[in-house]
Amino acid sequence: MANEPLTILVTGGAGYVGAASADALIEAGHRVVILDDLSTGDSYLIPNAASSVTGSYVDRDRVGDLIRDARIDAVLHCAARSIVSDSMEKPERYYRDNLIGSLNLLDAVQNAGIRHFVFSSSAAVYGGAQSALIPEDSMTAPINPYGATKLAFEHALRSYAQAFDIQVLALRYFNVAGATERVSERHTPETHLLPRIVAAAQSGEPFTLFGADFPTPDGTALRDYVHIADVAAANAAAFAALQKGKIGSTFAAINIGSGTGTSVREAIGAVERASKLSVKIDQQPRRDGDPASLVANIDRAAKLLGWRPRQSDINRIARSLFSTS
Ligand code: UFG
Repeated sequence: MANEPLTILVTGGAGYVGAASADALIEAGHRVVILDDLSTGDSYLIPNAASSVTGSYVDRDRVGDLIRDARIDAVLHCAARSIVSDSMEKPERYYRDNLIGSLNLLDAVQNAGIRHFVFSSSAAVYGGAQSALIPEDSMTAPINPYGATKLAFEHALRSYAQAFDIQVLALRYFNVAGATERVSERHTPETHLLPRIVAAAQSGEPFTLFGADFPTPDGTALRDYVHIADVAAANAAAFAALQKGKIGSTFAAINIGSGTGTSVREAIGAVERASKLSVKIDQQPRRDGDPASLVANIDRAAKLLGWRPRQSDINRIARSLFSTS
């Protein structure tokens, strides 16, 4: 039987993950209210079927008013500062927004008696791989401030979930990539691998490859690229599982990835095949804070959410980048 429709507040709903997730929630029959300050999001990404408020999740009183006025039942917290290299240079911004700001949001949520909270966490909480496929109970030892702030907020969520009547799922996304019909990745500046390979392929400028001396099969770093549509579906599955009472604990961290490692060179190959263009490579030293390998064990997502990746093959991800542009 279908679940009752919820009214879900999506912070960062004008961003890449938030907008695609809002689409998936609407598709699942929920009402969506987007809260985004448009600092990095784009208003055109807000789905027509959603209502939206321009503002920041860090403003506790305003968020409290919004929750009450819009009769919010549940929260998907996607908004964050999210660039690893930027977090190395400006850690204060990451701690202020991703941690203190998120705590303000959480206080508003708790004061309002909201019972279901889904958090966009990150594989960056792990630091690097201790095993080929990382399960959720691996040691968390972030090696950059971005990952540290995501982990610190997970700790707060776990404590709140134990103390108050709120159930939390922290979805640890691996490398979100690709495009849906409506939503594609656009950051300024763009630091992420696939859009940078695409830009190099289209412009003919060389692509800068950071590090070819990692202890991996081809020397370039391994990541787990997961299609944005699969991430959006995982968020919808998270609310469905919470509504059905299927989680069995007040807090759970769940990896969302493809379960497959792809090297930077393999990603270049996938873009070349999808675009029929060739990519020139400018090999440079490793980037600060980059682990050699981050690949998910995704058994828990299957078990708790009934979710599995359906579109996350690297060739399919690469093709999705050209079918919308
Ligand atoms: N890379 C290059 N050249 C580039 C860009 C990236 O060689 O121009 C390499 C990086 O060095 C890294 C890999 O491609 O080895 C992936 O880099 P991204 O910047 O695309 O992604 P990251 O793995 O650094 O980080 C991303 C998100 C984080 C998230 C993390 C989780 O930015 O928010 O994935 O795995 F935490």
